[in-house]
Order: sequence, then C-alpha cells, then structure tokens
Amino acid sequence: MKHLLSLETLPQAQMERILSAGVEIKSHRGRHESQPLKGQTWVLIFSKSSTRTRVSFEVGIRELGGQVMFLNASDIQLGRGEPIKDTARVLGRMIHGAVIRTYAQKDVEEFAQFSEVPTINALTDDEHPCQILTDIFTYQEKRGSIRGKVVTFVGDAACNVAQSWIFAAAKLGFELRLAAPEKFQPSAAVLSRAGGKITCTSDLRAAARGADLLYTDVWVSMGKETESQDRIRQLTGYQINQSLIQLAKPDALIMHCLPAYRGKEIDDQTFEAHAQTIFDQAENRLHVQKAILEWILE
Ligand code: CP
Ligand code: NVA
Repeated sequence: MKHLLSLETLPQAQMERILSAGVEIKSHRGRHESQPLKGQTWVLIFSKSSTRTRVSFEVGIRELGGQVMFLNASDIQLGRGEPIKDTARVLGRMIHGAVIRTYAQKDVEEFAQFSEVPTINALTDDEHPCQILTDIFTYQEKRGSIRGKVVTFVGDAACNVAQSWIFAAAKLGFELRLAAPEKFQPSAAVLSRAGGKITCTSDLRAAARGADLLYTDVWVSMGKETESQDRIRQLTGYQINQSLIQLAKPDALIMHCLPAYRGKEIDDQTFEAHAQTIFDQAENRLHVQKAILEWILE
C-alpha cells in the first residue's frame, strides 16, 4: 500500500511519475476522465486552516468518482484527546483513504500505520509534499525541466514548505538556495539527510543572483502565531520585490504557495505583476492532487 507522507521518503521515479501524470490529467480535465475512486469514501482530517489544499482534494476526489468527508479535527474525539492510533483504527475500517493536515509529522505516520489505508500528508510542521510537487509541476509547465535550474527560497527556510523543497532538490537535480536569517535556516541534520546542491545564506541578494525561480512563503506558519512579533522583526527584509527580481534571470518565475501577506514576504506590486503564475500554481494543486490520488491507487 502506498502513502504520501513526505518528499524525503518519496523516491525520485515516483515523484517523476506523479509530475508527468499531472500533465495528462490537466489536459483531459472534464473529458474521458477515469473514475478510479468510484465506490470509495475518502476522509480529510484537518487540524489547521486551509483553502487550496482542502478544496483541491475535495474537488479532485469527486472528479475521480469518490465520495469525500471533511472532518475538522476539533469536532471529532481526536480534538478531545482520543489517540491518533485509535482514530486511525476506527476510520480505517470505514473509509478508503485519508488526507491529513496537522502539526506533528509523526501523527500522519502513525495514522498511515494504524489505519492501513492510503494516507496523504496535506501539511505538517515538517513538510508540505503536495505543495512542492505542484510547484515543480508549475515550473515545468512554464519553463521545461527543473533539472539544472536555480531555485531561490526567500523567508523562513526552516518551515515545512522549505523543507519539502530541500528534499526535492537532490532527487530532481536542481540547485536550491535558501535565503534566511541564521535562526530561520534548516538544521544541519535535515541538509545532510537531503544531500544535493543546497546553500543557506543570510545574503538575500547573493541568493537571488541568476535564479530561475524566486519562491516565498509566509513568515509566520500556522502554529507559530505566538512568535509573530519576533519573526516579523527578524525576517523583515527577506522579501521578494522589484529590486530583488532585477538580480534573477530575466525570465525568472516568481511563485508563492499562498496565502500571501503583502508587504511582508512579497510586496503588493510584485505579487500582482506575477499573479498569473501564482494563481496557475494554485489551480495546479487540483491537477496534481488528482495525479497523487491516481498514483496512490496504482
Ligand atoms: N498553499 C496551501 O496549502 O494553501 P491552504 O493553506 O489554503 O491549503
Ligand atoms: N508554511 C505555511 C504554509 C501554508 C500553506 C504554514 O505552515 O502555515
């Protein structure tokens, strides 16, 4: 049985399979679609807010013929302290697959182990694998293979989104530069597990020079709200704006996983100038989630 729990554990060949299936799925949307989830009910269990991930999975599951049930983690007994492994053993007897957004990475791993149904990580504190598969899909849709390209991540380089980029870099053969204050750089352990050509620097302008893709995410991830003031103070300046873009390649793409906080990690003018790419990226969540679902059932 397959799960998608992290990009660290997703082999390169499988990653490439999902990315190329997404191309086919996007081009065939609404025409001759297969219904591999027909007769199945999938559950979404979310402990954190979501717009894109929730809607793309709900729509994707339905378009593939399945039924879907959304559970806010605080509405079920999990929110009152029922252990994840008990929740998993109950749901595993009733549903065919689960998509989980939560805090601890070990919780999605435990759910996968105890539910014995395909389980997808829809964001944890450690990783956001579905997002980064979509980001790479979007880059490749617009510019061709990401192999050999330079991706610069600006902002909180220790967050879940950055960490999934880190685990994708060696597998797909691109250079990753992480521009962040020292406190917001990934741990040496994560970097050594990932391998590949990755540099961490607090020199934002050096990191942006010659980049093919400038990418950012919020400074304050979900669950880190109590650190807001300190994060904003330390990350101020780590922003994608017109002056930074001048340093990147002339055809560089600007991407953001969303939601965006204008004036923080990206300025309004830059965001609006690159809105076409950013919202194509958001739309592609749907096509790539469907590719993930089809792959998981293969
Ligand atoms: N990018 C992303 O995962 O968005 P949501 O939090 O809205 O799902
Ligand atoms: N790093 C962000 C991603 C939001 C999609 C967070 O965890 O809140």
